[in-house]
Amino acid sequence: KLFNLWFCLLGILVYEGFCMKVKYDGDQVLKMIPQTLKHAQFMQGLIQEWMLDLWKPVMVEQIQAGREMHVRVPFSHLQEIKEKLLQNMLPYQILISDVQELVNRNTPIETKMQKISLDNYDYTKYHPMDEIYDWMEQIQLKHRDLVTKHFMGSTYELRPIYYFKIGWPSDKPKKIIFMDCGIHAREWIAVAYCQWFVKEILSSHSNNKLLTNVLKQVDFYVVPVFNIDGYIYSWTTERLWRKNRSPHNNATCYGVDLNRNFNSSWCSVGASRDCNSQTFCGSAPASEPETQAVANLMERTKSQILFYLTIHSYGQYILLPYGSTTNPSVNHVEMTKVAEAAAAKMKEKHNIVYTVGSSSVVLYENSGSSCDWAGDIGIKFSYTFELRDNGTYGFQLPAELIKPTCEETMTAVISMMEYANEKY
Ligand code: ARG
Ligand code: ZN
Repeated sequence: KLFNLWFCLLGILVYEGFCMKVKYDGDQVLKMIPQTLKHAQFMQGLIQEWMLDLWKPVMVEQIQAGREMHVRVPFSHLQEIKEKLLQNMLPYQILISDVQELVNRNTPIETKMQKISLDNYDYTKYHPMDEIYDWMEQIQLKHRDLVTKHFMGSTYELRPIYYFKIGWPSDKPKKIIFMDCGIHAREWIAVAYCQWFVKEILSSHSNNKLLTNVLKQVDFYVVPVFNIDGYIYSWTTERLWRKNRSPHNNATCYGVDLNRNFNSSWCSVGASRDCNSQTFCGSAPASEPETQAVANLMERTKSQILFYLTIHSYGQYILLPYGSTTNPSVNHVEMTKVAEAAAAKMKEKHNIVYTVGSSSVVLYENSGSSCDWAGDIGIKFSYTFELRDNGTYGFQLPAELIKPTCEETMTAVISMMEYANEKY
C-alpha cells in the first residue's frame, strides 16, 4: 500500500492524472438477446443490482425481449455474472474480451501536444483536444478565403466552443448545412469525422463540380467538438465518459447528457433525473452552457438551416425524429427517402449496412435530443448518424477503421448535398 502511494505521488510529478485514470483491466463486454419478457426483466434486475455499465441500449428500461444488448461487466464480477446467466439459460457472447486492451491500443500514451502542421496532419488518428484547438486555428489561417472560425459560447469549465463557417461569401442569403460532432465524449470517431469532413471539403472543392457549386449556395456550419470538457475527460481520466462535466448535488456526481438536455419533450422518456445516470437530463431544459451555445446559434439561423446532422457512434444508423414519440414528423416521408438514398451510397462504398428510421422505432425512445429539437424548430432535414461499428469494438473503434468509416459517411453527406442542390 505504502509503496503504491509513493509510486503514485511520483507518477503525479511525472505525468498528471497518473493515479486518477479509470482502468478497465479484464472487463468484458457481453452481448445477448433476451428471448422472453422474463429474461429481459432478469437482465434489468442483474444490471441494477450489480450496477453494470449498459452500452446498448443506454437505459435498463429500454431492454426488451428480442432486442440485442451490450453490457460491460467488470473483471471482479465476471465469473459470478456468467454463472448466473448460464443458470438462467441466458446465452451470451463475448464481444470484447478485454476492454482495457482496446483502450491502450487506441490512445497514444504520450498525449502532450506536438506542434501540429497541416501538411502532415494525420486524419487517420484520434487527436486530443489541444491538438484539435491548434488544428482549428491553422485551418482558418490557411483557408482565409473560404473558412472563418467563430466563438459560440463556453463550456462548463469555461473552454471556448468554436464552429467553422465554410462557403464562398455571397450577397444572397445562403442555405446552411449544420453539423456537430462529439456531443457524447467517448464517441471519438464522431470527432474524427468532423475533421475528415472539413479536410475533404477544403482539399477537393476546386476540382469537384458539385462542391464548387454547393459552396456558392450553401454555408457549412461545423462544430468539431460539441462536448469539449467531456472529450478531454475521456482522454485524461475515463475513456468511457459520455456526458459533460457540470457538478450536481454538492459535487457528489457529475455530468448532464447533452443529448437529453434540449428543449423537446424534455425528460419525458428515455432520460433520467438522477445525476448518476448516463442519461441525466439536467436540472431544466437547456440548463447546460454547451446546449445553450449550440441551441442559440441554431435558433438564430434556423430559417436558413436546411440540414441538421449530428454525428454519434456506435450502431450504424441514420436516425430521424422523433426519439420521444413513434408518431412520424411532418417531413417524415421525404426525410426517410433522402436517408435511404444516403444509406445505399454508404453500402456501395464498403458494404456496411446502415439502418434508417426514427430513433423511437429502430433504436430506442429518448427525449431532449438535439435531433428532435431541430425537427421541432422547423428544420426540414434533421438526422442523427450513428457511425461504426455494431459492437465488435463499440466506442473504441480502432484507428485503422477511421478512414473507411469517414469515407462511407462522406458519401452519405454528399448524397444529401446533391439532393439539397437539386431541390432547394
Ligand atoms: N445514441 C443517441 C443517444 O442515445 C441516439 C439518439 C437519437 N435520437 C433521435 N431522436 N434521433 O443519445
Ligand atoms: Zn451518442
